[in-house]
Formats: sequence, structure tokens, C-alpha cells
Amino acid sequence: MRKDKPSRTAYKVALVIVTLGIKPGMDSLLPPGIVSATKQLLLASGAAWPRTIRWAESKVAVSVYEAFDWMLPGQFEAFAHRKAFFERQVRDGISSGASQILVLGAGYDTLGWRLAPEFTEVNFFEIDHPATARLKAKGIATMGNHDNLFLIAEDLGQRRLVDVLKNHTSWRVNTQTVILAEGLVMYLLPEAVSSLFCQCAEMVNDGSRFAFSSLATGADGRPDAGRWTGLMLWLQKTIGESWHWSIRPEELGSFLKKTGWQYLPELQLPSNIPGVEFYAVATK
Ligand SMILES: C[S@@+](CC[C@H](N)C(=O)[O-])C[C@H]1O[C@@H](n2cnc3c(N)ncnc32)[C@H](O)[C@@H]1O
Repeated sequence: MRKDKPSRTAYKVALVIVTLGIKPGMDSLLPPGIVSATKQLLLASGAAWPRTIRWAESKVAVSVYEAFDWMLPGQFEAFAHRKAFFERQVRDGISSGASQILVLGAGYDTLGWRLAPEFTEVNFFEIDHPATARLKAKGIATMGNHDNLFLIAEDLGQRRLVDVLKNHTSWRVNTQTVILAEGLVMYLLPEAVSSLFCQCAEMVNDGSRFAFSSLATGADGRPDAGRWTGLMLWLQKTIGESWHWSIRPEELGSFLKKTGWQYLPELQLPSNIPGVEFYAVATK
């Protein structure tokens, strides 16, 4: 990950959400308010120009993203399923008693900003690499931050999560929490992923949930993004956001157990959901 530049992939996810907003059929899948909040954030942060947003809201943009599905089959619509999945985990977790939400590698995701005023008794924490987090903080400040939304700028490759959270005055260690790692773990080195899951287990109470998306490991041991895996790995490396970590789905249970979590396969999204990632949930 390039230290000095805001994340290109977080920017791409946010633009895709804006484009999905004009694709027929997607409004019933996308969480309410996500499209307008994402547009607002991209503009207010300065991450995107008004003309870029106009392009993202055009039929041309829909066609371009659909055309790129040759490379990552189904990935365009998969972002709508992904956003719906993570938001559902948060809402279900809050219904079951969670009072803290932690979004790791939050990028330009707007879940915290949208849900904080709805759940005023719940604290929302977001962590991202400083270059991205600072830009987002600027946007959120313009949009109006909420007292229960905390944006933290940290490189999780440089600083341990437990140290970041223990030093945060609003974090409560013995509290039921929902942790999200959406489109994050593939960018971390294997030892950092194991450590992250272990540290998360250390920081939350029993009954907490950890929802994450991941790439499956292919037969050749590399992250599997389908037929064009080699090209995708090269492209990710070229933009300075290489994919490092993936896992064989059948090894997920033992990986989670070793890191202090219990796999909940019944909450996983069914395998017919399009795209190259799979979406899993664990509990403590
Ligand atoms: C693909 S983006 C996903 C953004 C967001 N979760 C979403 O799905 O909309 C990956 C995010 O992880 C963040 N990230 C990657 N490595 C990180 C690290 N070492 N520490 C903190 N954040 C990191 C990037 O800055 C980026 O915002």
C-alpha cells in the first residue's frame, strides 16, 4: 500500500456505488441513503470532482463497469451485495445487543455516518490508512460529524490495533461489538491478517461478530480472481495496492478458531452471489 496517497481501490468502490445508484434493480439491494451519502462524501472530501460524479451517474459508466465484468465476472453488482451484507451484519448485531461498531479499512464507506444518528447509543469507530482517513475526515467534517462517530487515521501495518483502540477514550474493551473488514484483508500480509483477527478477539466481548470479505486461494496458491487472476494481480501491484492474502474456504473454520473466533457458515452469503470475493461471519 502506498503510504502517501489516498487509496485508489477505496475511491473505485465509492464511485461504483454511485454508478450502481442508476442501474435498474439495484435500489432494492443497496442500503437506503448510501448513494447520496457516498456522492456527498466524495465531493466534500475533494476525492472526486463534480464532473467525475456526473460521469459516475451516467449510462456510459454503467456500460464501462459492465464491460469490465469480463475481467472480474459479476464484480460490478457484487458491490451492491457486499454493501447490503455488511450493513445487515451491523443491524443484526445491534439488534442482538452490540453497542460498538468497528470498521477496519473503512475507505469512503458511509455506513458509520448514516447509522450513527439512527443508533445514538452505539459508538461507531472507523480506521483507515492516514492518507485516506484524513481526506475522508475532511469530507465528514463538511457533511457534519456525529458525536458517536470516531474516525481514526492509522496504518494497521505499522501500529497494533490493540494499542490504537486501548488509547482511544471512547473504546470499551468489554463490550459486544460488530467488526467489519470489507475488502481489506487481501491487502494485508498473512502474518498481519492472523494478528489482526487475534487482536480483534482480544478487544471485544463474547457474542461479538466479525464480518469480512475475502478472496479464495486458487489451485496455484495465489488469490483467485478467476480467469484473469494474473492480470488482476499485476494491476493491483501497479496501483500500489497488491493482494497478499487469501484463504481456501474449507480452511476458514480452523483459521478463525486459531485466532479466537468461531465460524458461522450459516450467515455466509450463498455462493451464487456474483463477484470474486466471498463474505463470511465469525462470532466470539
Ligand atoms: C478496497 S478499499 C475498501 C474500502 C471500504 N472498506 C469499502 O469497501 O468501501 C481497502 C481499504 O483498506 C485500507 N487499508 C489497506 N491497508 C491498510 C492498513 N495497513 N491500515 C489501514 N487501512 C488500510 C485502504 O486505505 C482502503 O481504504
